Amino acid sequence: MSKEIVVSGIRSTGYLHLGNYFGAMRNYVKMQDDYNCYFFVADYHSLTTHPDPKDLKANVFRVAAENIACGLDPQKVALYAQSDVPEIPELYLMLNMLAYKGELEKVPTFKEKARNQPDNINAGLLTYPVLMAADILIHRAVKVPVGKDQEQHLEMARNFAQRFASRYGAFFPEPVPFNFGSNLIKVPSLDGEGKMSKSENANATIYLADEDDLIRKKIMKAKTDSGPTEPNAEMPPYIENIFLLMELVSQADTLQFFRDAYNACTIRYGDMKKQLAEDMVAFVAPIRQRASSLQNDEALLRKILKDGAERARESASQTISEARRLIGINYY
Ligand code: ADP
Ligand code: TRP
Repeated sequence: MSKEIVVSGIRSTGYLHLGNYFGAMRNYVKMQDDYNCYFFVADYHSLTTHPDPKDLKANVFRVAAENIACGLDPQKVALYAQSDVPEIPELYLMLNMLAYKGELEKVPTFKEKARNQPDNINAGLLTYPVLMAADILIHRAVKVPVGKDQEQHLEMARNFAQRFASRYGAFFPEPVPFNFGSNLIKVPSLDGEGKMSKSENANATIYLADEDDLIRKKIMKAKTDSGPTEPNAEMPPYIENIFLLMELVSQADTLQFFRDAYNACTIRYGDMKKQLAEDMVAFVAPIRQRASSLQNDEALLRKILKDGAERARESASQTISEARRLIGINYY
C-alpha cells in the first residue's frame, strides 16, 4: 500500500521555539517513517513583512538546520525551500481565481496582521491562506501536522480543494490538520498571555537556540502568585501554563509531585520553576548544539535542500500538469 502524503511548513521569520517544536516538528519526526513526507521552509510566506534580502539565506538555512537537529532525517523526508519549487506559485495563481476577497478579509490572522502592520497591508498578506493551500495541495497531501493556530487555514485549503472539484472535477484530497495523540497543541508564552512565537514577546518564548542561562532566566521570570488558598483550587491560566510546559519537558512523576503540592496548597512556585528550568535546559541544550554544528556545514545544508527540492518538484510537476489539463490549459 502506498504511504499517505504529508506536508507542512515553517516560515523562516526567526529562531524556532518550543511552540514550533511541540506544535509541528515533534510530529514531523514521528511521521517520517510511516508517511510520504514533504517538509519545507516557507520563505515566500516570510516576504509579507519585507525582510532584509541580506537575511533570507541565513534564515532559511537555520530553519532547515533546526529541523534536522530536532531529529528530521533528510533521507526519509523531502526537506526543501518553498521558493525552490516554482510549481507552488503556479498553483497559487490558479487557486487565487477560486478565492474570494470577502472570505480572505475575514481570516483572523489577516485581521491581526493588518492591525499590527497598518502601513503594509499587501495582497500577499491577504492571500496568505491561498499560498498555504497551494503548498499543501501541490503534493495532494491528506495530513498536515500543525499547531492549533493553523486550523482555520486548513479549513480554507479544504474549501479551495472543494471549489476546484466543483469547477474542474475531483482532483485534490481534502487535507486535515494532524497531531499525534489528541488535540492540536498551543504552547503558551511565559507571561501568561498568548502563545510562544517567533516574532513577538521574545522574553516569554523559549527558543531552541537559547543558552542555558537565558532559559533559566526566562523561566524564573514567568508569572506566578502567592499560591492557592484552598485545596484543589482551579488554576489561573498563567499557572496552568507552567504546568503545561512541565508536562512537555519533565518526567511524569515530577509533574505529579507539583500537581499534588498544588492541590494540597503546599506548592512553592520558586521550586517548581527551578525544576522546570533544569528540565528545559536538558531538553533544549542538545538540540541547540546539534543545530549550531549543522549551521556551520553550509555545503551539507545546500545539498540537503537541493535534493529535497528535486524530490518535491517531481511530485509537484505531476500535480501541475494534471491541474492544467483539468482547467483546460493544454493547447499543444
Ligand atoms: P510562528 O508563529 O512562531 O512565527 P510559524 O507561523 O512559522 O511560527 O509556525 C510554524 C509551525 O509551528 C506551525 O505549524 C504552527 O502551528 C506551529 N506553532 C507556532 N507557534 C506555536 C505555539 N505556540 N504552539 C503550538 N504550535 C505552534
Ligand atoms: N502558515 C503556517 C504558519 O504560519 C506556515 C505554513 C505555510 C504552512 N505553508 C504551510 C504550514 C503549509 C503547513 C502547511 O505557521
